[in-house]
Amino acid sequence: MTLRYLPDAGKLYGPEWTSDPQSVYARLRGRHGPVAPVEIAPGVQAHLVIGYQAAVDVLTNAGGVWSKDSRPWQVRLPDTPGAGAALGMLAHRTNVLYSDGADHARYRKVMTDCYNMIQPHKLREMVIEVSDSLIRRFAATGSADLATEFARPIPLRVFNLLLGRPDADSAALISALYDMMEASGEAGARGTEAYYRYITELIEAKYADRGDDLTSWFIDHPVGLSRQEVLEALVVTLAAGFDPMASLISNTISRMVSDDRYYNSLSNGALSTYDALLEALRAEPPMANYGPYFTTRAVDFHGTWIQPAELVLVSYAAANTEPTHLPDELRSDGGAYLGFGAGAHRCPAADPATLIAMTAIERLTSHLSDLELTVPREELEWRPGPFIRSLAHLPVRFTPIRPDQPGESPWSAQHPSSSTPSDQTSPARPADYATSAPWSS
Ligand code: HEM
Repeated sequence: MTLRYLPDAGKLYGPEWTSDPQSVYARLRGRHGPVAPVEIAPGVQAHLVIGYQAAVDVLTNAGGVWSKDSRPWQVRLPDTPGAGAALGMLAHRTNVLYSDGADHARYRKVMTDCYNMIQPHKLREMVIEVSDSLIRRFAATGSADLATEFARPIPLRVFNLLLGRPDADSAALISALYDMMEASGEAGARGTEAYYRYITELIEAKYADRGDDLTSWFIDHPVGLSRQEVLEALVVTLAAGFDPMASLISNTISRMVSDDRYYNSLSNGALSTYDALLEALRAEPPMANYGPYFTTRAVDFHGTWIQPAELVLVSYAAANTEPTHLPDELRSDGGAYLGFGAGAHRCPAADPATLIAMTAIERLTSHLSDLELTVPREELEWRPGPFIRSLAHLPVRFTPIRPDQPGESPWSAQHPSSSTPSDQTSPARPADYATSAPWSS
């Protein structure tokens, strides 16, 4: 059985959606309340959870009806081009994102243990090195597209290092992944093939010779992942990390350079980078609607009757922007609301992701302190798609800096880590990351 077609289902595709999703959420909220019928692609329907409390109920599995296993939904999908596009992001894989219960706990333990082994000071150094090398490419020109020239390459170059490959290899990963995600036809197929070749060769190399890197930690984790499961852990790390990470960086910068309260902070510290990041996580969370859940039985959920195995998408973006009455100081999420999710599947990499974004942005603004948008923020172009809220371009101008200029520049910073005090780049966190394998003590 598929969802009954509703003529007023919201469309999560098309120009109106891409340019102004908040108007779509507002209209759906007015018509349907906390759960609304939508189409994520022509012919592919879903329930969009747009109420904050309803979103928390799904994420915390209230009533025990929610599953991450997409297979029962997948087999009933209509055979349409829209379905093909939806499956790219929703087809089942044997990893942490699509599993429940004991399987999920096993995969999740590997992810959290290994992510926690990334040492913040090493990660910060990597991000500074990568950020400076990207800034060097455009610093002398006085203008840049910070989405394509800065925010998007950073996560993949950093992941490439974290996974245990030299920076020189990152170009291969970047072009494979870009082709896989964005090219169609033969180029897309070549990208997919190159991407899996990169991962397979990486795994082979690390089985033969371990290093101090994420891939080796996945392999050696005591839960004993199979080779296929190691591959899945790498795939989900890159897939879950890359796009939202790039979006978080560009969405945050776009706020800082277009709002006077943040604009001032570039020079005199009115509001901090961290404030801008929290605001981006709340108002424009990168994983805007990528909270797929599936019903295990029929349920009357906040007034909507949902059949078994239907697709329910938690809209972090809509839930976060629903007016609530809980003052920020009483929140345990510090103001990021559901930006990193909640419950059993909450992002296990929220801390390193925050550190990467903060470090990259502070590096950029410390070198280029008078960044300004070349078009009003309302006219910025967003990438299409139902799931991720991400800028296509972020055109800025600034006073050019040259290699021979006195003072610190992206060319002169030889020991970058010392110039960015840790208290400026890491948000408050209860405990520091582990410094050795938790299973080795
Ligand atoms: C270092 C970069 C990142 C990595 C490696 C990463 C990894 C992951 C993984 C493995 C999961 C699945 C967890 C599970 O199912 O138990 C996940 C979930 C999630 N991540 Fe991240 N992530 C990263 C960055 C981000 C960023 C920047 C955002 C957005 C601000 C984000 C938002 C989320 C959300 C909302 C979920 C929950 C999805 C759900 O409920 O199904 N992540 N992340």
